[in-house]
Amino acid sequence: MIEYRNLRIALLGAGSVGSQVADQILQHGDELAARVGAGLELIGVAVRNPKSARETSIPAHLITTDAETLVRNADIVIEVMGGIEPARTLILSAINAGADVITANKALLAHHGPEIFDAAAQVGAQVFYEAAVAGAIPIIRPLRESLAGDRVNRILGIVNGTTNFILDRIDTYGESMESALAMATELGYAEADPTADIEGFDAAQKASILASLAFHTHVPVESVYREGITGVTLEQVQEARKSGYVVKLLAIAERIVGPDGTEGVSARVYPAMVPLSHPLAAVHGAYNAVFVQAEAAGSLMFYGAGAGGIQTASAVLGDLVTAARRHVIGGPGVAESTHATFPILPIGAIHTRYHVSLDIKDAPGALAEIASIFAKQGVSVESVEQKTATDGSLTATLVIGTHEAIEADLAATVEALAASPVVEHVSGVLRVEGL
Ligand code: NDP
Ligand code: HSE
Repeated sequence: MIEYRNLRIALLGAGSVGSQVADQILQHGDELAARVGAGLELIGVAVRNPKSARETSIPAHLITTDAETLVRNADIVIEVMGGIEPARTLILSAINAGADVITANKALLAHHGPEIFDAAAQVGAQVFYEAAVAGAIPIIRPLRESLAGDRVNRILGIVNGTTNFILDRIDTYGESMESALAMATELGYAEADPTADIEGFDAAQKASILASLAFHTHVPVESVYREGITGVTLEQVQEARKSGYVVKLLAIAERIVGPDGTEGVSARVYPAMVPLSHPLAAVHGAYNAVFVQAEAAGSLMFYGAGAGGIQTASAVLGDLVTAARRHVIGGPGVAESTHATFPILPIGAIHTRYHVSLDIKDAPGALAEIASIFAKQGVSVESVEQKTATDGSLTATLVIGTHEAIEADLAATVEALAASPVVEHVSGVLRVEGL
C-alpha cells in the first residue's frame, strides 16, 4: 500500500537519453512506484526547441522551455541536457530549492563537481550520477558504496565507446584510423565533431570522476594527463598484436608512490598496450569496461554498454529509484567523500613498461649506442626486435620493450634517442598496462 505523496519529477532534456527516461517513467510508473513506495509524477520536461520532432510518449502539455520554474517545483530533478550552462545554474537552483539531482553530465561534474556537491551538502540534498561514466554500467555506486570499506589501488577503464570501436576496427580489420573513424561516424558512435572522443577529453572527464570517487580525493579534470588516439598508427597496432597485445584507450586512476616517496594519485588517459590475456583485451566494438583492483576485493570487472539512449536511461532510472526512496525514508543525503586529499602526482611520477619504436642507421655500433642511452637514464631493456630495411637504405626499425621504468626517465631516454646521430626517427612510444 503506497501512502506517501507523489514525488514531483522534473526532466531537463528530451534528447537521446531524456526521451527514453520520460518514456520509462510514463510507461512503467506503477512498477517504479511500487519499488519506491511513492508515485513518481513527471511534472514537466524542459527542452530548447519545443517544436522539434520527438519519438517519445511525452504529452505535449509537459514540454516547456521554462526550466528555471520547473526545477523550483520539483522533489527530484533529472538533468540530461548536457553542456555546462544552463545545466550548472539549473542544478544549483534545484539544490537550493531542496531537490535531489540526478545527472548524466560528465563534462559538468568534471569541471564543476565540487561546487555542485558542496551546494548539495549545505542543504542535505544528494546528487546521483551513475550515467555520467560508462552509460549503463554500474560503476559509480560500486565505487561509492560497495567498495567504500575497501581500498582501491587501481582502475583501468575503457570508458569511451567511439575510440574503442575505432581501435578495434584497426586491430581486427587492419583499417586506417581515417576509415575506422568514418565508420564510427556513420554508425552514430562518433559526433560530427569527434574531437572530445578521439583526443581523450571525454575519457579524461570520466577519469577525473572515477579517480575522485575511488581515492576519496577531488581530482580536477585539469590534472588528468591526456593523450588521444590520433597518434596511433596501423603499424603500432599490428606490431602490438604480434607481440601479444592489443591497443586500447585507457582511463587510468591509480594510487602510486612517486620517485621521491610521495604517496599520491595519478589520473591519466592514453592509448596503451594491454596483454591479450587481460579481460580488457576482450572488450570489442563500442562496449565499455572498467577493471578495478582493490586491496580486499581483488580484481573486479564491470562491462556493458557505455552509451545509447535506452541503456543510459537504465542508469538514470536506477538513480531515480534510489533518490525517490531516500525521499520516502527521509533524512539528509550522504555527502561526497573527499577526506583523503591525496596529492595528484604528475605523469613523470608514474612507472610502467614501454615499447619504443625507432628508425636507426643500420651501422656498426648503432645498437650499442642505443643500449647505452637507455642505460644512462636507468631504463632497463627487456626486449629488442630489429627489422632491417629491404630497400637497401641501410636503415633498421627497432622496437625496444622496457622493464618497469619511471616515466620521467623514459621521457629523458626518448629525448636523448631523438638527439642521437644514429637515430633517424623515434616513431612512437606506447605504454604497457595491465600486466
Ligand atoms: P541530446 O543532445 O540528444 O539531448 C539534449 C536535450 O537537452 C535535448 O532535448 C535539448 O532540447 C535539451 N537541451 C539542450 N540545451 C538546452 C537548454 N539550454 N535548455 C533546455 N533544453 C536544452 O543529448 P543526450 O541525450 O545524448 O545526452 C544528454 C546527457 O547525457 C549529456 O550530458 C551526455 O553527456 C550524457 N550521456 C549521454 C549518453 C548517450 O549515449 N547519449 C551516454 C552517457 C551520458 P531540444 O530537444 O529542444 O534540442
Ligand atoms: N562519446 C561517448 C563515447 C558517449 O563514445 O563513449 C558516452 O559518454
